[in-house]
Amino acid sequence: MKVVAVYPEVKDVRVIEHDEPRLTGPTQVKLRVLEIGICGTDREICSFHYGTPPRGLKHLVIGHEMLGEVIEVGSQVRTLRRGDLVIPMVRRPCPHAHCVACRSGRQDFCYTGDFVERGIKEMHGFMGEFVVDEERFMIKVPRELREVAVLVEPLTIAEKALIQIHDVQNRLPWTCPVRSKEMGLNHQCHRAVVLGAGPVGLLGAMALRAAGFATWVYSRETAPNAKADIVSAIGATYVSSTTTNVKQLAEMVGNIDLVYEAVGASSLAFEVLESLGTNGVFIFTGVPGRKAPIQVDTDLLMRNLVLKNQVLFGTVNAGRDAFEASIRDLGVFMQRWPGAVKALFTNRLDLDSAPAKLRDGRGSIKDVICHV
Ligand code: BGC
Ligand code: ZN
Repeated sequence: MKVVAVYPEVKDVRVIEHDEPRLTGPTQVKLRVLEIGICGTDREICSFHYGTPPRGLKHLVIGHEMLGEVIEVGSQVRTLRRGDLVIPMVRRPCPHAHCVACRSGRQDFCYTGDFVERGIKEMHGFMGEFVVDEERFMIKVPRELREVAVLVEPLTIAEKALIQIHDVQNRLPWTCPVRSKEMGLNHQCHRAVVLGAGPVGLLGAMALRAAGFATWVYSRETAPNAKADIVSAIGATYVSSTTTNVKQLAEMVGNIDLVYEAVGASSLAFEVLESLGTNGVFIFTGVPGRKAPIQVDTDLLMRNLVLKNQVLFGTVNAGRDAFEASIRDLGVFMQRWPGAVKALFTNRLDLDSAPAKLRDGRGSIKDVICHV
């Protein structure tokens, strides 16, 4: 079968032949790959800044955002049948007995760093025609979501963040005391700013809107543009950094209760951190490339963190709970804003077009490789 592989040493990305995988254990399932999304991480790997082939190999099969259909199950598989649609989890546990996170099925919180990630770190990914994997890493998705289900994995970033926001903000009176009954259904209790309007930012904005946040999306491009249209379709506000600086953004929003960073631009993030509001929470999801150090006003940041009870955290996806929340929320998004969700898809391409798209994603929101 054909797969798309990255060769970091010789800096190459190409379609190669692999043997079709077969079941080798009773708890495995075989999947036909239906769709694979391309994200910023894939593009980083394909510009050779990130990603590691499996031990002893020169190449890594790429692709971690996958929708598959079960075509064969091992004799001990209990929860899946032929024809089921599934999304595989990406990260797999480290082998160490003392890693409480991995030993509890929470490899997204792995302590040792010896986890592997399919298509990213030391384990082949999904960008081929068939995949064999363990039942316990599969998440079943309803057929109704077939058309958009490839977004489940990137949406888990926001869902895992929301789960943690809930835990973190439970330290204070956070739920609005004025019920929506009195304020009208559209009353939005908290104000969130999303940095970046790529797929992670836009999916994050959808999740925040669905959770009742008044939401602003701050991104470079001037409006009108396709991303700004999606932002207004979900009832959020698009603000371009080309025409509005961070101070003006902060004045526009008022008390910023939450910042969801989804670009991996650290200088912008720390500038916005200065404007985080009282009792605010700031979430980092981006992975910036290492550039030269910059200056930040640490006294101001530290004063604010203390005097305004702020919390700052980073998050990498994701546990089963976030995958399940992601499937539920995608259903909600499709009820509320089907056009906006579909507008996230820029191109659907065949496998042979993947190497070029992996190297140049200009102008795209979400590109997807599909076989049917
Ligand atoms: C993937 C995650 C992964 C992270 C870091 C993201 O693009 O969705 O599963 O943990 O990259 O490698
Ligand atoms: Zn990804």
